[in-house]
Amino acid sequence: MSELLKLSHLIESEITKIEFPLSPGNLYDPLNYFLSNGGKRLRPVLTLLATELGGVQKEDAINCALAIEVFHNFSLIHDDIMDAAPIRRGKVTVHEKWNSNIAILSGDVLLVKAYQLLANQKSQHIPELLTLFNKTAIEVCEGQQMDMDFETSEFVTVDEYIKMIRLKTSVLLGCALEFGFIVSNNSISNRKKIYDFGINIGIAFQIQDDLLDLYGNPDKVGKQVGGDVKSNKKTLLYLIAEKNAVGDLREKLNQVKSELDLNSKVSATQEIYETLGVKIETKSYLDRYYQQAIDLLDSIETESDKSAIMEMVNYLFNREH
Ligand code: IPE
Ligand code: IPE
Ligand code: MG
Ligand code: MG
Ligand code: MG
Repeated sequence: MSELLKLSHLIESEITKIEFPLSPGNLYDPLNYFLSNGGKRLRPVLTLLATELGGVQKEDAINCALAIEVFHNFSLIHDDIMDAAPIRRGKVTVHEKWNSNIAILSGDVLLVKAYQLLANQKSQHIPELLTLFNKTAIEVCEGQQMDMDFETSEFVTVDEYIKMIRLKTSVLLGCALEFGFIVSNNSISNRKKIYDFGINIGIAFQIQDDLLDLYGNPDKVGKQVGGDVKSNKKTLLYLIAEKNAVGDLREKLNQVKSELDLNSKVSATQEIYETLGVKIETKSYLDRYYQQAIDLLDSIETESDKSAIMEMVNYLFNREH
């Protein structure tokens, strides 16, 4: 079994041990439901990979790895309310299965649960872990607010988009990785490098998420395909289309935003993007951020083997869900 698979099995079995009381059912049932629906468990695996790369045993970082995954799950429950998403991980979203008030409150419990898990981490590391975690959590909220503000903004630049996805998505990957280097007492310089590596894979990860949102196989992605188009999200795909569109196509790109039927909106958007070469240009951004990530990983000074973390980078680069 590869190291990567071993780590994700370990995380999965630890997640299964997280238990919530039975009552009130409307508070806790959604959490048992959501945490048992799977997910790639990418972020806690990154923490463990960084911990091993940093030269200590993965078990030393298990609690802070779980804290990251639980925080991520909290953010998804709330994100699905904000994005009016019907499906997550192949199942009905919490706010659709129950309602938005329940999704808000059970999400809140999950956020606190993340802090409880972090509090179980070995005490000598808690101040640094907590400082980074708090900064990250606030940044995720900033990114989420920018993402929603952009839905109705007329002009969004690629730089603003990159800033938004760095905040809503990348900082959590950076935090997950730096946690591993904090627990393994790495140098400040290495900590910065692994964090920046996380920022770059995070940006690529979100660009890929945007691509999968429009072109992915719904059975694999486990989300409603076309959700971003439905909400007029300013994804990189949209910004590239806007930059390339002139004349009739520009007109069409504007008109399609007010199309009410989702299927027609998705197919019309795909058609316009096809003519404008959007997919290829989006992928060139992906390649660039992955390359920057690999360069940063190369620059980290360590005696440990980097093959498991490289395997993760390759898995992410080729992912279809
Ligand atoms: C989804 O994250 C939210 C984004 C930042 C794009 P994942 O794609 O890691 O979701 P799960 O945890 O595997 O379901
Ligand atoms: C979500 O970005 C990022 C966070 C949850 C913080 P998206 O809204 O694109 O994520 P998905 O596509 O719903 O997973
Ligand atoms: Mg969102
Ligand atoms: Mg969403
Ligand atoms: Mg998305």
